[in-house]
Amino acid sequence: MNHFDYQGGILFAEDVAIPAIAAEIGTPFYCYSTATIERHYAVLADALAAAGLETTICFACKANPNLAVIRTLAQLGAGADVVSEGELRRALAAGVPAERIVFSGIGKSREELAFALDAGIMQINVESEPELLMLSELAVAAGRVVEVALRVNPDVDANTHAKITTGKKENKFGIEWTRVREVYAIARALPGIAPVAVACHIGSQLTEIGPFREAFLRLRDLVSDLRADGTEISRLDLGGGLGVPYDGETPPSPAVYAETIAQTLGDLGCRFIVEPGRLLVGNAGLLVSSVVRVKRGATRTFVVVDAAMNDLMRPALYDAFHAIRPVVEPAADAAAAPVDIVGPVCETGDTFARQRDLTPVEAGDLLVFETAGAYGAAMASTYNSRPLVPEVMVKGDRFALVRARPSYEDMIALDRRPDWQTA
Ligand code: LLP
Repeated sequence: MNHFDYQGGILFAEDVAIPAIAAEIGTPFYCYSTATIERHYAVLADALAAAGLETTICFACKANPNLAVIRTLAQLGAGADVVSEGELRRALAAGVPAERIVFSGIGKSREELAFALDAGIMQINVESEPELLMLSELAVAAGRVVEVALRVNPDVDANTHAKITTGKKENKFGIEWTRVREVYAIARALPGIAPVAVACHIGSQLTEIGPFREAFLRLRDLVSDLRADGTEISRLDLGGGLGVPYDGETPPSPAVYAETIAQTLGDLGCRFIVEPGRLLVGNAGLLVSSVVRVKRGATRTFVVVDAAMNDLMRPALYDAFHAIRPVVEPAADAAAAPVDIVGPVCETGDTFARQRDLTPVEAGDLLVFETAGAYGAAMASTYNSRPLVPEVMVKGDRFALVRARPSYEDMIALDRRPDWQTA
């Protein structure tokens, strides 16, 4: 469910016509709908509450780190899941209270851990013994006791794309299942560390409930074992991962997800943290692009657009599907024909869709890539020296630029003529 619909034959974001934004901002640009973000948050929060779960929803900022997006969610009561000092600074700048922030990631540096300690965030999700020892040392030096979850690797297959599967034993994430009790014992004994939680995230874009259930049941057994060992677990961080439809998939609803948590873990007396990213913002964003030209090749027709793989990497990186539709609604009887929709970057991989049925378009027409609110702008680069695309947020009948398009001068000015120094 989103707020991007045709009105009078023109695609609108809420009550703003997309061509009006394009005329003001130029293309390509990302366009986010406030109402859609708010709705997704409310559906999830209501489902968790209806299942009787006391939960903090920590938005996985990696999905869309724009301050306006994080702030929209923070105002609804969301916390943040961050994976770097940069994300932590963004979450704080967007107004997320430190006591609603969790810090995940396998490679947190000493500086990042020290920054998080100093900020006084709710929880640090530790992913290895060396990280635990470093954190203890820093906490002692700072005269603090930090609340910690160990992120565990339950060796459960999420049945999603291999590149976004994180909970199998061959993946780099989490503490190996067979060593978890031992590492909690170490944590209990370390100064400055309060091991109060368990964290687990098995992957992203899950479209079945089974892998969640399997992981939650493993956590359930683990919590009993840890309690028997003398660790007072009071919080469970269940990660993110609930999928969204890109191409007709039917992922479990938030209600089914919440009921599964309640059935498997609801009687443990724990508070919960969930870390959804894509679920909250995926469907709330479009990438708006113009057709540069239509090029007829030997065997196929190429629709060349002004967005490219550097702006939306998911098709090139994961062969991901994004629905593509024209901003001017095609006539009901318009015949669609298969085309390849490609960007201007000098790689064959810069292809958004192969042999996709599209009604006829010509240079200057606007097209949108749907479900681009998560891992779209977030993963963009300046490859081929293309400045990052701007981001726009819509709220009712108003829109606002929430990230400016850098000028070519801005982009080039970061490079320096070498000013050689001896080491
Ligand atoms: N928590 C942790 C520890 C994570 O690693 C992730 C995502 C999330 C939460 C949020 O997961 P979500 O609810 O969004 O599925 N770039 C890929 C997705 C990478 C996800 C990485 N971790 C894509 O475009 O599909």
